[in-house]
Amino acid sequence: DLSTFFLGRPLTSPLMNASGVWCNVNNQLNALAESKAGAMVTKSCTLLRRNGNPEPRYHTLAMGSINSMGLPNEGHQYYLDYAERHDYENKPLFFSIAGLTLDDNLTMVAQIQDAYTPAILELNLSCPNVPGKAQIAYDFEALDVILAEISAAYSRPFGIKLPPYFDIAHFDEVAEILNRYEKVSFITCINSIGNGLMIDINSETVLIKPKEGFGGIGGDYVLPTALANVNAFYQRCPKKSIIGCGGVSTGEHVFMHLLAGAGIVQVGTALYEEGPEIFVRLNIELAKIMKEKGYKTIREFQGKLKTI
Ligand code: DHB
Repeated sequence: DLSTFFLGRPLTSPLMNASGVWCNVNNQLNALAESKAGAMVTKSCTLLRRNGNPEPRYHTLAMGSINSMGLPNEGHQYYLDYAERHDYENKPLFFSIAGLTLDDNLTMVAQIQDAYTPAILELNLSCPNVPGKAQIAYDFEALDVILAEISAAYSRPFGIKLPPYFDIAHFDEVAEILNRYEKVSFITCINSIGNGLMIDINSETVLIKPKEGFGGIGGDYVLPTALANVNAFYQRCPKKSIIGCGGVSTGEHVFMHLLAGAGIVQVGTALYEEGPEIFVRLNIELAKIMKEKGYKTIREFQGKLKTI
């Protein structure tokens, strides 16, 4: 039985897409709605439509991917239109926003509020790919300010998408900030590991065009960093839920994220490579592991990682 609850909502599976993958346009969103994913999220949007960075801007790597998409998206209203016709009985919808300024985020949040959609806001504080724009979540003062402003402007619980952190002192400091904001009810860990670089030996060149080849890393490379961030915030933020994201391409990876404390697990690179049919395979693989271990429900092991 793969059914679970997240923020009081029932899901048929703990799996969903990671924002940015298979969720930019209506036919992709419809495919996710019809897939075996238990929930779904829209592409991080800006107030106005963007073309994004020049191509090539995504490249498959031996153990994952590198991308510098640059927030190509159809603009906030397009995703609001989708949210207004989404079938919420079928599965929950998360609505990801990544405004270029605080004012843009406040404008979008006000419009989501007025639209009365049951979509759940995921505020993306960790886009590494817009040239000249630092990630908000790596500036702890800016993080505090945006959470104060969004909390004041938005009347419902919401979540935030964080980048990976790599230092215990940073886990402590970020968790302390987040715990002061009660409306922050979930944390999605992690976005890509920002600004990696991979090289083609043959041509002696970088693999993607934007930013001289620098881009966010996903896939197998990021799994241990993702698990650390999921578990670090699970331990430090007992009143919040965690969504795990990073390095998931098998049922074993899903099981690890759940054990580390994730309530839902997102799939990015592997979904990009395989398409929405991947949710059929991952559900089967997770169910098989649970059966082998004698677990009947996710509740029995979720967050129960043991130390030695
Ligand atoms: C993009 C990449 C991200 O990792 C993100 O969080 C938002 C946008 C992008 O390049 O489009």
